[in-house]
Amino acid sequence: MTEVETVKKKIAALRNQINYHNHRYHVLDDPEISDAEYDAFMIELKKLEESYPDLITADSPTQRVGAQPVAAFGVVVHPRPLLSLANTFSDQDLDAWYKRLTGLVPGQKIDFVCEPKIDGLAVALTYEDGIFTVGATRGNGYQGENITQNLKTIRSIPLSVSPQAPQRFEVRGEAYLPKKGLKKINEERAAEKLPLFANPRNAAAGSVRQLDPRVTAGRPLDIFIYALGWSEGGDMPATHWETMQYLKALGFKINSNVARCRDLDQVKAYCRDWGGRREELPYDVDGVVIKVNSIALQEELGSVGHDPRWAIAFKYPAVQGTTRLIDIGINVGRTGSLNPYAVLEPVSIGGVTIKQATLHNEEDIHRKDLRIGDWVLVQRAGEVIPEIVEPIISRRTGEEKIFHMPPTCPVCGAEVLKPEGEAIHRCTNTACPAQALEAIKHFAGKGAMDIDGMGEKLCTALFEQGLVKDSGDLYYLTREQLIKLDRLGEKSAARVLASLDASKQRPLAQLYFALGIPNVGEETAAILARQFPGIDKLAAVGAEELMNIPSIGPKISDGILAFFRQPQNVSIIEKLRKAGVSMESAEQPAGDLPLSGVEFVITGRLELSGRQEMEARIRSLGGKAASDVTRRTDYVVAGSDPGSKLARARSLGIKILNEKEFLTLLESHDGGETKQAKLL
Ligand code: IVH
Repeated sequence: MTEVETVKKKIAALRNQINYHNHRYHVLDDPEISDAEYDAFMIELKKLEESYPDLITADSPTQRVGAQPVAAFGVVVHPRPLLSLANTFSDQDLDAWYKRLTGLVPGQKIDFVCEPKIDGLAVALTYEDGIFTVGATRGNGYQGENITQNLKTIRSIPLSVSPQAPQRFEVRGEAYLPKKGLKKINEERAAEKLPLFANPRNAAAGSVRQLDPRVTAGRPLDIFIYALGWSEGGDMPATHWETMQYLKALGFKINSNVARCRDLDQVKAYCRDWGGRREELPYDVDGVVIKVNSIALQEELGSVGHDPRWAIAFKYPAVQGTTRLIDIGINVGRTGSLNPYAVLEPVSIGGVTIKQATLHNEEDIHRKDLRIGDWVLVQRAGEVIPEIVEPIISRRTGEEKIFHMPPTCPVCGAEVLKPEGEAIHRCTNTACPAQALEAIKHFAGKGAMDIDGMGEKLCTALFEQGLVKDSGDLYYLTREQLIKLDRLGEKSAARVLASLDASKQRPLAQLYFALGIPNVGEETAAILARQFPGIDKLAAVGAEELMNIPSIGPKISDGILAFFRQPQNVSIIEKLRKAGVSMESAEQPAGDLPLSGVEFVITGRLELSGRQEMEARIRSLGGKAASDVTRRTDYVVAGSDPGSKLARARSLGIKILNEKEFLTLLESHDGGETKQAKLL
């Protein structure tokens, strides 16, 4: 054996040993050796790798603390979207959900799996040929941020799994900070006079989204895996429960309180039981996730919008407290809406100090009979902005005042109108400074152009000084202008200019969202970016073409058309273009793919191939794999026992393919052919 071969063998043996003990310690909570013995293995491995750097691999345990800072997070497109969950709050809600399920799959016995709903951050981990290759945040469900290096620092995430695992697969789970971890971090932050994290979820999100993975490594993050996202190559279990056991056997950390429930009564008992005991858990739980156990049934049930029908969250009551409603303030939003908010006497609820709460609109204030000066019951639930539940009428003194919306805009003094049939009051002045300022803040903010350092305060200062009148002006700011501003030093100014520059290359979806087109949120912006890979294409679109896009209705379509008709908006876009802001998608435009614009629904059991795999293939060819048969469906693929979707397809006259015909169609498009499927 040559020297290198001997070293190679030694390295492999050390890695095996370290991985084994790591799993015992971090996943099974049952170590076999002391920390010192573990450290000795690590030191030996590090030394060998230093002498033979060619032998370092991405899955080596030494690579957990990524030495290279991530310049910026790249985008990861999720092959299967990460869905969210609808909420239930009572036994009655659960009954209604169960009734809907049994109505959809009559006569089928349904059993469930119940799991604690962890309050953290959803992540997706991809493994290829047994190696952890990509870790991503949920993002908007369709695309997230690449946080692989940071996730590698979480010891309970295996960097490699058995070669018997599927060739490619993705697991999903919740990255979280245990309660103790949050306490420790907040103590450290308090000592350094840094702002404290309000709750474990914020702390987890903040820790995972660090540009320097060494910071993440210093945070005691952990993870529970709760789903197999998709897999290629290998047969997968038929139930969620078995899938969890399978993932556990592969080395993933599964919550030990996951339970099988034979019927809805057992589900309710599980929810009740943990409702009383959740404080005992070492991590924060805001409810229970209930899932239909059979994967075939899950697929048959499909989803509505972003929520699956086969799973639901049972939420525990939010944390509540009482305080005084000192005043009602008004914010003017970027569409001119007058948004009332409650100014509260500061109160600590569940460890978080609450000073403000949302009030939605005037009707809502009157419906709740809230008066200025009232004692009120306030609640906060996780991330959600606190809200007022009700006034405490018994504590009224008679001094309380009834609130009315002002007849004029508190910012510009223009007339305020409440359009017929709407609940919102609006300022009628489109040039209202509040609207312009809100549009700038939105443009620079999270999920939009994400301009680091350009927060609310700086936007306001720039706007008030007349340096920035709209978002197009941001890119023409100079160093001199910035350092003249109060409290902005040379360093911060340079940082702001650098992040402005970096933001010019944001993905097109972010630009579409940042522009503040009415009714275009992050998800719609992502759909538009796929459909219109350049802003000129979007600006030139007509109503008919827009309405042909699944998930774009008349409200969004009108918003887009109106937006591009406004000369101010066109002028902002021109300023951005001149400044060098990227206005085209780097990705392959959807229109060039052979199945773009073609919508499929698969129903029944496929015999020759896995459904997930087929759906992924449809998507990779630019098509859409939908779960419901509608007028927009182009093809229904019918496997065995197809159910009601097939009948609906027949009644709508939609083309029906059997599995063989479908595979032939897919094969005819693989390999870069660009023939439209509709021609078949
Ligand atoms: S399943 C379609 N299981 O809750 C299934 N989610 O409101 C969706 N979460 O984004 C996810 N614990 O971040 C699932 N045991 C669990 C969970 C869980 C926490 C989070 C997850 C998801 C959110 C949905």
